[in-house]
Amino acid sequence: MANVTAIYFSPTGNSEKSVMAIANAISQEVTKVDLTASAEAPQMQFGADDIVVIGGPVYGGRIVKAAMARMTGLKGEGTPCIIVASYGNRHYDDALVEMKDALTEAGFVIAGAAAPIGRHTFGEIQVDRPNADDLAETAEFAKKVMEKIASGGDIEAFEIPGNRPYKDGGNGGKFRPLTSDDCVNCGLCKKKCPMAAIADDNKTIDDDLCISCFRCIRKCPVKAKNIDTPAYNSFAEGFTEKLKERRENEFYF
Ligand SMILES: Cc1cc2nc3c(=O)[nH]c(=O)nc-3n(C[C@H](O)[C@H](O)[C@H](O)COP(=O)(O)O)c2cc1C
Ligand code: SF4
Ligand code: SF4
Repeated sequence: MANVTAIYFSPTGNSEKSVMAIANAISQEVTKVDLTASAEAPQMQFGADDIVVIGGPVYGGRIVKAAMARMTGLKGEGTPCIIVASYGNRHYDDALVEMKDALTEAGFVIAGAAAPIGRHTFGEIQVDRPNADDLAETAEFAKKVMEKIASGGDIEAFEIPGNRPYKDGGNGGKFRPLTSDDCVNCGLCKKKCPMAAIADDNKTIDDDLCISCFRCIRKCPVKAKNIDTPAYNSFAEGFTEKLKERRENEFYF
């Protein structure tokens, strides 16, 4: 039985859920590597007996740059790899091909690729996803990839949609969270910010570091972190309407 490692950058938890659905469908024993927790790129070498599942969120049609940067220390040696681009019901554009190219270059063999839907960071878009049905579908995909690997042959012989050169993207958004008077200075938002963008006062946000991932908003235990401005609210309303048509998860193998 291969060693399974699940690696993810996941500010609001969608990529983590989808990556774990795949990893857990392959093995009950999974090593987890959370790239959200630290800016350091872990140096890890994998062999042909490993299986690695790697995922992160789509920002502007690419994998967010912070995630790609934290994957640069991962090296394979013909290591089968399943890639995951979690996206918010618009599109994943060039995110899967970008991840495939970088990880192939690093010695991995891409055996499967998933583009699962997750609640969009902005607005109220597909708010319950990935739900139980999505995760079951994702687990089913993992089993099919494993059957393909077990049957031998060329595991890389499948197409992934996306263009080269990649579109410009992967950057953070422009929205910066606010802090209301309800803040109890627990420090959780500062501790959990993946970009170390929140100052010691738990309020001031470094404009250059923040990527608008909204992890601080979702994690705040008293809902003090917010984005309740007229500009955001009006954008969010229009964006929610624009992306209201449900998209399905997409899998390639
Ligand atoms: C700045 C920014 C840009 C985004 N761009 C896209 C996009 O181009 N397409 C899309 O479908 N979703 C986009 N999203 C939504 C995320 O891809 C989606 O919510 C994803 O599931 C988040 O994953 P996470 O929970 O692992 O952080 C964007 C989110 C942010 C914050
Ligand atoms: S998580 Fe919320 S309550 Fe805690 S310091 Fe941050 S804003 Fe304040
Ligand atoms: S401060 Fe910015 S980067 Fe940090 S958790 Fe909040 S939204 Fe994300």
